[in-house]
Amino acid sequence: MSTKTENPTQRTALITGAGSGIGRALALGCAAADMHTLLIGKTASKLDAVAAEIAARGGTAAVHPLDITDDAAVAALATALTGMTIDLLAQCAGDWLIASIDDTSSAQLDHILRVNLRAPYRLARALLPNLRRSDNASIIMIGSIVTALSVPMVSAYTAAKVGLKGLSGALAAELQPEQIRVVMISPGPADTPMRAAASPGIDKSVLVPPPTIAQMVLAVAALPRGISTSDFTLHSLLWQ
Ligand SMILES: NC(=O)c1ccc[n+]([C@@H]2O[C@H](COP(=O)([O-])OP(=O)(O)OC[C@H]3O[C@@H](n4cnc5c(N)ncnc54)[C@H](OP(=O)(O)O)[C@@H]3O)[C@@H](O)[C@H]2O)c1
Repeated sequence: MSTKTENPTQRTALITGAGSGIGRALALGCAAADMHTLLIGKTASKLDAVAAEIAARGGTAAVHPLDITDDAAVAALATALTGMTIDLLAQCAGDWLIASIDDTSSAQLDHILRVNLRAPYRLARALLPNLRRSDNASIIMIGSIVTALSVPMVSAYTAAKVGLKGLSGALAAELQPEQIRVVMISPGPADTPMRAAASPGIDKSVLVPPPTIAQMVLAVAALPRGISTSDFTLHSLLWQ
């Protein structure tokens, strides 16, 4: 694990789901933008691999393997980070479920709501003291195109992501007086392990490359203090 260098001007990004897909691309993008990165995810080995990539490119990363649905683990993370300034909280971790409402068990529904909605709420609340230390803080939620158009067989996932959109908007309004921006970016199908599992054999030309999503997150986080944007989708023009 690489740790932060003694550079008081270096900005810090905490990225959930940093071990793969969109979160991994964002972690690499943040490090390339000279940010210190805090990598959150369930599987330590995946975070270690991303941290090693960042270190090999001259960046710094600290890994914090944890299950974001575990309240005690989130509380322990907040304690471990006490006094640290976080400039960007990027909530990329998520899980999916393709099933009809008839075939979605209560346990599956609870899991999808916990990981995609309740956990981002808990994390934002737990890390607000760190964000309040920044002179230009951002909370970016990774949503999904299902917040903008309804498709069948993803009712639990859609309910969670639309809930996350509500959370994002309400938090944006609540934190506006403190000039903390909160924005949800909702990708269409993206070229990640989640998509490969959900849509095996899909034509990759219709997928958004994760580095493109990372680029948009970084652009929003780089807006001047006091400036924000509304939530937006990001999708391939070849996808329909
Ligand atoms: N791929 C798409 O087409 C697409 C489209 C729109 C939106 N999204 C959204 O984009 C986000 C990132 O997805 P992705 O496509 O990059 O998928 P991914 O490669 O599967 O990444 C998901 C990440 O979330 C982490 N994660 C899942 N549950 C967790 C938990 N309970 N605690 C901590 N970490 C957890 C995973 O860690 P482990 O691997 O260690 O479990 C993994 O690193 C998700 O919110 C997803 O809903 C994806």
